[in-house]
Amino acid sequence: MIRNILNELTVRGVRHLIISALFFVVYALCGTAIMLTVLFLIDRHISGESVSLISAAWILVGLLILKTISNAVADMSKHFAGFDLVERIREKIILKLKMFSLGFYTNERLGEISTVIHKDVDNMEMVVGHLWTRMSADFIVALILGIGLFWVDWHMGLAMIAILPIALFSLYRGIRSGMKAQQEAQDGLTDMVSLFVEYVKGIPMLKVFGGKGMFRDRLDHSVSEFGESSKNASRLAAVSVGRYTFLIELAFALMATLGLWWTWRGELSLFAYLMFVIVSKEFYKPFVNMESHWLNYIKVKDSYERISRLLDAPVIVDPDQPKTAERFDLSFDGVGFHYEKEGFEMKDLTFNVPERTVTALVGSSGSGKTTITNLLLRFWEPQAGCIRIGGVDIREMDYDYLLGKISVVMQNVILFSDTIANNIKVGNRNATQGEIEEAARRAMIHDFIVSLPDGYETKIGENGLGLSGGQKQRLSIARAFLKDAPILLLDEITSNVDPVNEYKIQQAMSVLIRKRTVLVIAHHLQTIRNAHQIIVMDKGQLMEKGMHAELEAKGGMYCKLLSMQ
Ligand SMILES: Nc1ncnc2c1ncn2[C@@H]1O[C@H](COP(=O)(O)OP(=O)(O)O)[C@@H](O)[C@H]1O
Ligand SMILES: [Mg+2]
Repeated sequence: MIRNILNELTVRGVRHLIISALFFVVYALCGTAIMLTVLFLIDRHISGESVSLISAAWILVGLLILKTISNAVADMSKHFAGFDLVERIREKIILKLKMFSLGFYTNERLGEISTVIHKDVDNMEMVVGHLWTRMSADFIVALILGIGLFWVDWHMGLAMIAILPIALFSLYRGIRSGMKAQQEAQDGLTDMVSLFVEYVKGIPMLKVFGGKGMFRDRLDHSVSEFGESSKNASRLAAVSVGRYTFLIELAFALMATLGLWWTWRGELSLFAYLMFVIVSKEFYKPFVNMESHWLNYIKVKDSYERISRLLDAPVIVDPDQPKTAERFDLSFDGVGFHYEKEGFEMKDLTFNVPERTVTALVGSSGSGKTTITNLLLRFWEPQAGCIRIGGVDIREMDYDYLLGKISVVMQNVILFSDTIANNIKVGNRNATQGEIEEAARRAMIHDFIVSLPDGYETKIGENGLGLSGGQKQRLSIARAFLKDAPILLLDEITSNVDPVNEYKIQQAMSVLIRKRTVLVIAHHLQTIRNAHQIIVMDKGQLMEKGMHAELEAKGGMYCKLLSMQ
């Protein structure tokens, strides 16, 4: 993982990382040198030798300045390295987001993407930029000082590190068991939060049906479970850190005691002894902070995995040799599909929609009608089979080309906070005012638009604030007229509309569907009597196929749907 993260950095970023670490090393060594100089001066003084105080002062001041400068340089470079990394990752994510199929953007995904962009990317900057530079510097310093101290006296050196392996092993064990407990606490938190969300969403229902008691028991249980698992995790962490800290201090105490004994016996000079006592603090530093280094590593790993998941998710790639369609009939050939979540499953779906005919999709809610249109638009990719337009696999077409051949009018119209004219122009950005008005006229919305004070230049709010459902729907029909694509998908367009609007929409529709290949999903079965073909869906399966009269005579599922209305 570390290598992958470093690979994300630009050359400049790596340079900043190295500079920062090196200057932190200089910074720490200056600190030690200052202490050693003072120690040296005292030693000289005690042994009655003369020292030049002036030159000593110069050395101290020089070291102090060097220390300050290195700190500033290291600090600055670590920020640069961090920003470099963050910038690179954000750039990559943004590039990638454009290439995902729309089906990628489930609610959970949106949550995850926002976590990645906010938290994980910042984590990377914090840990890789700020902490890892310091940490590697600490280890380099420990190595240099360790070698130096061994060189001064290897007995003392051994005493200094004797207990370290035991301490590190104990920390490793502690972390392993702590992580398990941490995971349990994390799972508990997830459970609790989703239960809370369910509860809050369901409050109106619970109020109406008086089911609060039942839910409260579940919530209470989940809250106390989370409490227990968190306490357990904290307890384990505290024990492990406590034990580790004790062992490191024991390592120091052992060295200090042995050193004292050796000094008394005259085997070690006082100067060397004091040097060990003072300098070993710096030597132990990275080990003392080991626990937090480890936690940071886990944090970065977690963030990095989420970032990688996002960056490695499959995208829609245009083919090397894109094909175009000569005709615009549709065919689903043995299409098999399921969403990421278990449950709904479409199996071996096969049907044709001849060019310039109308096929109606009917079936109870959840039977997979909208899914069929989503597959045609490549919002999701089928796991089996093939979808063709004019005999060409839609995966062999450029994606923009495919989308250009399909107009969609759906139940939920998406409008932008812009003028009415610009909202219609979504259908065709190069349209002239005349073409826009013609489209609006055909969509039976022109009269309404010109009755507004600013006419076509009237600003509408986000999602068409200030327009009725039917008016929004007719704007989206105007878009479809303007786009003039050979294939038309209509998904329950009149389900949220009052009768007057519905009448106008039906009229506009009867013009719009002429000479196009149409897939229409309608919940009023009356409206699709005249379709050339009706396909009855149930649980993702095609149950019946035929014209209205045929299916009515057959007395199957279609009849059941009819009688339910
Ligand atoms: N994005 C999605 N992720 C997971 N399941 C989905 C998603 N969209 C729809 N479904 C499920 O797929 C099934 C078919 O949905 P849909 O095609 O919208 O049905 P219809 O349009 O016939 O009402 C439903 O059970 C629905 O819950
Ligand atoms: Mg639907």
